[in-house]
Amino acid sequence: MQHMRARGARFIVLTGVTRGLGRALFEAFVAEGHRVAGCGRSKEAIAELARKYPAQSLHAVDVTDDGAVKDWAAAVLQNDAAPDLLINNAATINRNAPLWELSAEEFDPVIKVNIIGVANVIRHFAPAMVRRRDGVIVNFSSGWGQSTAPEVAPYCATKFAIEGLTQALAQELPTGMAAVPVNPGIIDTEMLRSCFGEAAGAYPSPEKWAQKAAPFFLALNARHNGQSLAVDAGA
Ligand SMILES: NC(=O)c1ccc[n+]([C@@H]2O[C@H](COP(=O)([O-])OP(=O)(O)OC[C@H]3O[C@@H](n4cnc5c(N)ncnc54)[C@H](OP(=O)(O)O)[C@@H]3O)[C@@H](O)[C@H]2O)c1
Repeated sequence: MQHMRARGARFIVLTGVTRGLGRALFEAFVAEGHRVAGCGRSKEAIAELARKYPAQSLHAVDVTDDGAVKDWAAAVLQNDAAPDLLINNAATINRNAPLWELSAEEFDPVIKVNIIGVANVIRHFAPAMVRRRDGVIVNFSSGWGQSTAPEVAPYCATKFAIEGLTQALAQELPTGMAAVPVNPGIIDTEMLRSCFGEAAGAYPSPEKWAQKAAPFFLALNARHNGQSLAVDAGA
């Protein structure tokens, strides 16, 4: 049975809703009456969100697990039509260190979550969007998708990859759709604390960012296809 949505309400699929930017975006979208299907790995955080937002679709899914993403997409698409907006937000960052000091156990997950996870989600959600020839796919990039810094080489590699992957995807989509790499800006999350330490406190909270970011994402359309964009969350 398909979910009923209020006029103007969108159906949004969002990865990484358990904390940080994904959680703040999830809450901002829901507050505006949109319906969201979200995932994250933390079963506890997903259960807590499901209790708080019983009308939303929440699943504990690791985006690096292609089979789990396939099952998630099947469950979500059974209840809702293709998403109007698919946002690949989930990502991870390496411990600050020169590249040669990072073990394979530290390097590989950054590639797996930030590139393979994004591809898994697109593989299982995009076909329904392409069939409808409608919808926007946002892949979260970073300032470190276009410039580099020491001690975050694995992360930089993945975000440069996201820029390329998304631009190529944009060339593949039918007219009426868009794929957009988006740099969200610099926001005080656990990820930023990992690389900036206490200095992260000088940046806006995810909740403040989401007030500007949610309408920014909702305004994206086919005309933005292939553009590399950034959220301007300034005052
Ligand atoms: N914060 C910034 O200043 C900044 C700047 C530039 C770009 N970005 C980008 O913005 C996005 C969000 O970053 P953030 O700062 O909010 O990061 P964060 O605080 O570390 O949150 C990451 C989110 O992704 C989820 N996640 C991680 N691995 C996952 C996996 N394998 N499967 C499913 N979900 C997974 C996490 O939940 P679980 O642990 O429960 O899975 C969490 O909800 C990322 O793409 C990041 O690269 C952030």
